[in-house]
Amino acid sequence: MTRPRIVVPRGLPEAWMTPLHAAADVVAGPQDAVSLSRAVEAALPSADGVLTLLTQKVDAAFLDRAPRLRVVSNMAVGVDNIDLEACAQRGVAVGHTPGVLTDATADLTMALLLSAARRLPAATADAAAGRWGPWSPTGWLGLELGGATLGIVGPGKIGTAVARRAAAFGMEILYAHHRAVPPIVPDAQGVSLNALLERADVVSLHVPLTEATRGLIDASALGRMKSTALLVNTARGPIVDTDALVQALGQGELGGAALDVTDPEPLPPSHPLYALPNVVIAPHIGSATHRTRARMASVAIDNVLAGVRGAPLPHAVD
Ligand code: DGY
Repeated sequence: MTRPRIVVPRGLPEAWMTPLHAAADVVAGPQDAVSLSRAVEAALPSADGVLTLLTQKVDAAFLDRAPRLRVVSNMAVGVDNIDLEACAQRGVAVGHTPGVLTDATADLTMALLLSAARRLPAATADAAAGRWGPWSPTGWLGLELGGATLGIVGPGKIGTAVARRAAAFGMEILYAHHRAVPPIVPDAQGVSLNALLERADVVSLHVPLTEATRGLIDASALGRMKSTALLVNTARGPIVDTDALVQALGQGELGGAALDVTDPEPLPPSHPLYALPNVVIAPHIGSATHRTRARMASVAIDNVLAGVRGAPLPHAVD
């Protein structure tokens, strides 16, 4: 029996790839590839499946180069790098990795939230720079989570996991969703997006990036938020209008921002966001734990192997 051919434009550590090599002929590009390697380009026309990262755009042009493709398996829960319609038109199944990264991403969301709330970047930078004078009753005052209100925009798996953690810190939880959902944690209140923006001390974004959510947090949304409020984004950068965010922060219309995702990504070191004292920026590390990344690779491999066999994907995108 001929083995399926699977292309991995950006290869993964060998330990994670073992089950793939056992079941298929694999053509993998370098782990740090910024574009398709020659070997990957040459293999696409005969590829049965492709295992992608969120940095790989899978559009009609990409799919046209791989006419035999049966499955695109994204090693991410987000699939905004993939043209789902173009895949559907060609009968190409699409898989992703929901669930396994929920806790890691929710943990990182809390780390960023706490860091911004307690002004850790400014405080630690001041300490390192010799601006740590005698203990002061008014030095580096921040937001206490107990009793503060957290607004979850997009109460899916990750949003709910964040709400659970924040409730344990004593936060009141609001959430906004495009359809009615039961309380995501006891006493959580479902409200409209506008009401959430106006009432929350911290707004945390957990919606996928789609045409409906691109630029959702624009100047007008930021304008509704309290001038002391914090914005946390561990979802996707383009959900927030970056220029509007820089403006709101620079003019004191917003208390701070904690971002694991930005637009653009990577955010160049010269970007004005880095110069603002009330901003914490991480380089898209929400799922970056040893356990979670290994699990994501495993789910992505299960998906691609099912897809090349013509079987239903264990984690298909709806
Ligand atoms: C995802 O899975 O969509 C994250 O952004 C990366 O883990």
